[in-house]
Amino acid sequence: MTRVEEKARVVVLISGSGSNLQSLIDASRERGSPYLIDHVISNRPGAGGLERAHKAGIAHTTLDHKDFPDRASFETALGTCIDARSPDIVVCAGFMRVLTEPFVSHYQGRMINIHPSLLPSFRGLNTHARALDAGVAFAGCSVHWVSVGVDEGAIIGQAIVPVLPGDTPESLAQRVLEQEHRLYPACLNLVASGRAILREGRTFLDGKPSTLGLWPIGGG
Ligand code: GRF
Repeated sequence: MTRVEEKARVVVLISGSGSNLQSLIDASRERGSPYLIDHVISNRPGAGGLERAHKAGIAHTTLDHKDFPDRASFETALGTCIDARSPDIVVCAGFMRVLTEPFVSHYQGRMINIHPSLLPSFRGLNTHARALDAGVAFAGCSVHWVSVGVDEGAIIGQAIVPVLPGDTPESLAQRVLEQEHRLYPACLNLVASGRAILREGRTFLDGKPSTLGLWPIGGG
């Protein structure tokens, strides 16, 4: 996906504090990074990630979904804003809006998302509480291509987080978030360099059906 003598251009969609955005910004500044973040769009005014973009000198826009009469008109405005930057990749980083089929189809194979569970388990909200209720030994996070079903697209990479005795949804969320900050830049590097592509509903890494797997550093 890297253009000749040029980095892949990325637009990041956020709704919240933007700690994942920060990890992507930091990684984009490492030597040899295959992407640059061109623009950040938030659907929530005052989202912490907007301040992070501002501090990093990245152009940003707020498109408040509440200013639109319905989902379709919001998505039309969002798509116009994204396409004005001609990005190679659209990255959802804590972007809390369900996206409909026409929007998702338009960006198929070039829009990715992070979800704080080991997909396909625990799609949707309250993931950590549901994982603890289920008594799993391992939690984690997944980066996947965005498809029409929520948190359903083909997986690009996953990182494992052991569940510890006495974990609460909050303590587990914190340790998973640390792994999100390792996993997302690693996956975006693969997509931006063209090493990871979506083909026939699966991720191909270096030409073979495969998924990046990250183990915890230092035992969790
Ligand atoms: C992350 O856990 C992400 O996986 C989830 O929402 C959280 C967003 O965190 N969808 P941040 O805004 O990147 O700090």
